[in-house]
Amino acid sequence: WAAGVARNDAGELAIDGIPVSELQRQFGTPLFVMSENDFRARARAFSDAFNDAFADICGGVDVYYAGKSFLCTTVVRWVEEEGLRLDTASGGELAVAARAGIPGADVALHGNNKSDGEIHRALDMQLGRIVVDSLDELERVAAIAANRGDTARVMLRLTPGVHAHTHEFIATAHEDQKFGLSMAGDSTDQAGLSAAEEAVAAASGHESIELLGLHCHIGSQIFEPDGFALAAERLLDFLAAMQAKYEIVLPELDLGGGYGIAYTPVDTPRPAAEIAQAMAAVVRSKCAALGISAPRISIEPGRAIVGSTTFTLYEVGTLKTVRVDAPAAGGGEPGEPGKNVTYPRRYVSVDGGMSDNPRPVLYDADYSAILASRTSDAAPQLSRVVGKHCESGDIVVRDVYLPEDVAAGDLLAVPGTGAYCWALSSNYNYLARPGVVAVRDGAVRLIVRGETEEDLLNRDMGV
Ligand code: LLP
Repeated sequence: WAAGVARNDAGELAIDGIPVSELQRQFGTPLFVMSENDFRARARAFSDAFNDAFADICGGVDVYYAGKSFLCTTVVRWVEEEGLRLDTASGGELAVAARAGIPGADVALHGNNKSDGEIHRALDMQLGRIVVDSLDELERVAAIAANRGDTARVMLRLTPGVHAHTHEFIATAHEDQKFGLSMAGDSTDQAGLSAAEEAVAAASGHESIELLGLHCHIGSQIFEPDGFALAAERLLDFLAAMQAKYEIVLPELDLGGGYGIAYTPVDTPRPAAEIAQAMAAVVRSKCAALGISAPRISIEPGRAIVGSTTFTLYEVGTLKTVRVDAPAAGGGEPGEPGKNVTYPRRYVSVDGGMSDNPRPVLYDADYSAILASRTSDAAPQLSRVVGKHCESGDIVVRDVYLPEDVAAGDLLAVPGTGAYCWALSSNYNYLARPGVVAVRDGAVRLIVRGETEEDLLNRDMGV
């Protein structure tokens, strides 16, 4: 839960003192409810943790908020005011950045398939960095910049062969995925040279490119520092080798995003300070061992900043209860007499679902939910919160105990929906995407308007 979210004296969930019924009255449901203070505090805390850990190594860290997790102009302004920079991944995200008025120098552009238009836009906005993802793109960026008489500031995204899972990581020799330049030798036509090395050589040869350094991103919702540390070591080895071989200086190293958050009590991400210190220790010792001065470090957290700042408010509609068969403890086939238990599961339908949060369907993600409009002394009942879409997989919260007397018209709140929920939302079944409100010190404002039926129909040309 975001800071400032608590039950009021009447037992209703409130944020900075504003009860959820009031939010529903003003803005309807479903609704994303975000705490501005909490966003700012998390941005600062994350930035402070990394700046402290790296202060003596490279004078601090540049923190790029990963806008893909949740982006709108208001949030870009908060990011800038808190001293962070912005990571974008498309022309559309750049358009939001431009509208918010953040200086281009503080913006990075990602993407494995940037269009020429996006590259032009990045150069128009004089972006601090374009993160180049392939040899192909490197040549395109170089040519476009040369034609304009411009210089593109470039980071090269490499795949360090660290495959990060949520709780563990496994090292692989070669990453079989679409992003980045492979560091494995012999990965292109040029015998012996990895794609990453080819890119370094080519980039340093282009007048129109200023090669700033190297980048990697090993995955998302990662709890432990080990994978980040291993990736940092591999990139530093490579950076030192390239500096020596090509007699260049690569002043920057970006270690990407991916820092995990707790969605439910079983999630136990390490605190940012611990992760930052573990990464700093590795960078410090590796640079010493290699005899190089440390590059300026940057990172790109998205979820860790915005994820916990927001809850989704839903209204309960239809309810039904089914009996579920499950093997009793100690085994037994389903249906085998005497070895089964059967228990009730209640389906609690809400007025949104996979269109405002596709993460349970996409990633089997777990959330929790509480009865927000009131407290209840009724017994807890195993419940499944489901959406209103035409799919049986349309689950919001797989298993949660909610009071037995939950009824139509009650409000439920699902915490932890700040990252990759609104951002991934859709109009499936012609549902209008919900709005986002930001609450600060008892005042609420709409920062993204919810869609209306008219918005949806306007795009249907009806010809
Ligand atoms: N940098 C790069 C290059 C990335 O690709 C990403 C996320 C980030 C930074 C930010 O990662 P974060 O700190 O937010 O984990 N839709 C998925 C997550 C996709 C992440 C994509 N890239 C989900 O809902 O879990």
